Amino acid sequence: MKQIKHEPSVAVCPGSFDPVTYGHLDIVTRAAEVFDKVIVAVLNNTSKQPLFTVQERVDLLKEVTKDIPNVEVDHFDDLLINYMTEKNAHVIVKGLRAVSDFEYELQMASVNRKLNEEIETFFMMSSNQYSYLSSSVVKQIARFGGPVNDLVPESVEQALRAKYSEM
Ligand code: PNS
Repeated sequence: MKQIKHEPSVAVCPGSFDPVTYGHLDIVTRAAEVFDKVIVAVLNNTSKQPLFTVQERVDLLKEVTKDIPNVEVDHFDDLLINYMTEKNAHVIVKGLRAVSDFEYELQMASVNRKLNEEIETFFMMSSNQYSYLSSSVVKQIARFGGPVNDLVPESVEQALRAKYSEM
C-alpha cells in the first residue's frame, strides 16, 4: 500500500505574471484553500519581452496577495522542476481557461512529469467570469487607455498607467 505523506503540502503557481490579473488571483486564492502553502513563482523569462521587470511583477504580486497568509511570492530562472525540488514542493498548480489552453498545458505537464515523476500538475478551471482574461489582453487594452478596472486590482491598474505614460 502506498504510504500517505503527512508533510505540509506545498504547491507552486508558476507563470510570467506580466502583470498579475484577477484571473491569476482567482487561481492563487483557490489553491491557497487547498494547499498548506502556495508559492507564486515568477519566471524570469528571457525569451519573452516583458512589460514589467521581474522585481515589479513580484512587488505587484506581493501587494495583491498580502491578505492571504499562506501565499509566498518568489521568482526563478531555472527549469520549473529544479525550482520545485529546491522548494520541496510536489504540486504545480495551473489555471485552465479554455480548450485552447489545454494542448500547451498538456505538453508542459507531460514534459515536467518526464523530468521528475514525483511532481504532479493539478489543473483548476478558471472561474467563468475570467475565462477570457489574460495578461496580454489587459496590456492591449491598457496600452490604448481602455478600462481595465474589472480585470486587474487597482495597484496593477496604476502600475500599467504609469508604465504606458513613461513610454
Ligand atoms: O505565464 P506563462 O508564461 O504561461 O508561464 C509559463 C511557465 C513559466 C509556467 C513555463 O514557461 C515554465 O515553467 N518555464 C520554466 C522552464 C521549464 O521548466 N519549462 C518546462 C520544460 S521545457
